[in-house]
Amino acid sequence: MALPGGIKHVEELPVEGKRVFVRVDFNVPLDKKTKQITDDARITATLPTIQHLIDRGARIVLGSHLGRPEGQAKPEFSLEPVAARLAELLKVDVALADEPVGDGARKVVSDLRDGQIAMLENLRFDPGEEANDETFARTLASYCDIYVNDAFGTAHRAHASTSGMVKFVGEKGAGYVMAKEIDFLSRLLGEVDRPYVAVLGGAKVSDKIEVLDALLERVNGVVIGGAMANTFLEAQGKNLGKSKVERDKLANARNFLRKASEKKVTVHLPTDVIVATSLDDGEGSKPVSVDAIPAESMALDIGPATAEAFKKVISLARTVFWNGPMGVFEKPKFAAGTLAVARALADNKLALTVVGGGDSAAAIAQAGLADKVSHVSTGGGASLEFVQGLDLPGIAALRP
Ligand code: 3PG
Repeated sequence: MALPGGIKHVEELPVEGKRVFVRVDFNVPLDKKTKQITDDARITATLPTIQHLIDRGARIVLGSHLGRPEGQAKPEFSLEPVAARLAELLKVDVALADEPVGDGARKVVSDLRDGQIAMLENLRFDPGEEANDETFARTLASYCDIYVNDAFGTAHRAHASTSGMVKFVGEKGAGYVMAKEIDFLSRLLGEVDRPYVAVLGGAKVSDKIEVLDALLERVNGVVIGGAMANTFLEAQGKNLGKSKVERDKLANARNFLRKASEKKVTVHLPTDVIVATSLDDGEGSKPVSVDAIPAESMALDIGPATAEAFKKVISLARTVFWNGPMGVFEKPKFAAGTLAVARALADNKLALTVVGGGDSAAAIAQAGLADKVSHVSTGGGASLEFVQGLDLPGIAALRP
């Protein structure tokens, strides 16, 4: 597969007998109590790259972060469960170093034989990772002859393992995950089939305002749901009761709506919502018009009329990018709107349908529809930055 910008694919790299550092994104969700991995999609996604390197007899050094331990070796963020899960999936040993860099890490790497795998401990246990510190980057680089990045989910971070170390390694390239992400997401930046509709949800306008503004230059329509829709509705003068509203973002919301109308981009907002007085108030949850939200209630999902309208917009689109749930989909009674959107993407066989990672990827998996869309990204923040047209540091570092 030819990648844009002259980036090499792992298949083109002379990895036989070489030490190959693979930056993976094994930042997977763990159950707080049991420490069990609750979704291993990011691990299974990298198996083709790792298997390719095993088959070619490379000496594989895996590096990842997990959570945000903020430069300290916090045991609850150890990659131990991840190494165990990977070993189980590949049916080979994975030697986990007890630190990201240092004598122990160096020894685990130097003990590797062809086709074997070592994993460094959580890279963010060292403050040098997020600071993109040169000494830390050089140390990581000293563990390998070839650098492969398969961590698309972390490509928007300019950290030592995603960016800083790359210039100190002779050969570099993209793994299968990275290559596929670049391939699909690049299609959203070029000439797309129209209408191109972006479906955005999730909790906060503040997380998405930049992507919303950037997408106005590219899309024909924007569908907004989830708690972030509340802020837009209030900006239009609706009364949202006790719903989450970002009052300090009302001006941004108004600005966005004005710019969209100038650019003739249609913005679809909920016309009805499912309300309840609390998240646990299953009995009381019911659809109401956005013009009649009771003062004591909050909006926790889009309503059935809105779900129908959103489904129609998605079914008429020929390119769809979806990021963010339409409501509190973790609770079944507030999941219908998100599942309706997932179904609408899956049913549209004429469109290029791309799901940005995080919650929307979880929702489409929960609906059993992940294989019915064109692409489900492994990256949340990274896919949002990519579709805005930003140059991601982890991808830039792979160019010659
Ligand atoms: C993610 O889950 O989005 C990536 O692993 C990046 O994690 P971060 O937001 O903590 O940098």
